[in-house]
Amino acid sequence: MLWVGTSWKMNGTLASARDYAEKLVGADASQWSGVQPFIIPPATALSEVRRVLGEDSGILLGAQNAHWEDSGAWTGELSVPQVADAGAELVEVGHSERRQYFGDTDEVVNRKVRSIVAHGLRPVLCVGEPGEVFEEGRTVEFITGQADSALEGVDPSGVVLAYEPIWAIGEHGREPRRDDLVRAFDALHDRYADHVTAVIYGGSVNRGNASGLLEIPGVEGLFVGRAAWSAEGYLEILAIAGEWVRRH
Ligand code: 13P
Repeated sequence: MLWVGTSWKMNGTLASARDYAEKLVGADASQWSGVQPFIIPPATALSEVRRVLGEDSGILLGAQNAHWEDSGAWTGELSVPQVADAGAELVEVGHSERRQYFGDTDEVVNRKVRSIVAHGLRPVLCVGEPGEVFEEGRTVEFITGQADSALEGVDPSGVVLAYEPIWAIGEHGREPRRDDLVRAFDALHDRYADHVTAVIYGGSVNRGNASGLLEIPGVEGLFVGRAAWSAEGYLEILAIAGEWVRRH
């Protein structure tokens, strides 16, 4: 099973979220058989997207973040039980934008992963190195350090582990070449593949490179930002992944 998902990051309204979810529900899911789709809207749209998806669309719903405590005086935060109550089945954690701009240290990421797992939700755990670490050839030690720390004291079996090199993410990101990723996925596969649900790739994924990225040994799915911010874009990548499954 390939895991192919998208985070909408801080984009969209209730109306656009509803429209997106309706397009997914209305599409022919046989195009992506063998693929587990997941979508991660902003928290404001979770319950509406849950309503549109219903309970048996086969498309998993996730939150972009959750606090490690269940409740309390944490102004502006949402807990795992709260995002679950709004319909989330997954929680994204450790994304480089959270680490860089919101102080999510390895310790914070570990606390969040523990809470997500304790509440029976599935973490989508992101790891990734900055450009200078990549240039110095220290990617593997950096990302396995992040993953080991995030997974400390946790049953990792439900975790989707997403490798997202920081230098490849977003509008200033560089599209990775196959050679950039082969060594990292080799190491991630050796170390985690038997223990987690899937090890996937994210960072400038688009319809042009999706199939090639899936060819890299150890890549078990894709985590897409910009190219899946429209339902049409996401559906196209799901169809590419479905076609990839049929060919293999
Ligand atoms: P882009 O696909 O826009 O580079 O974003 C990737 C990402 O951060 C997904 O979490």
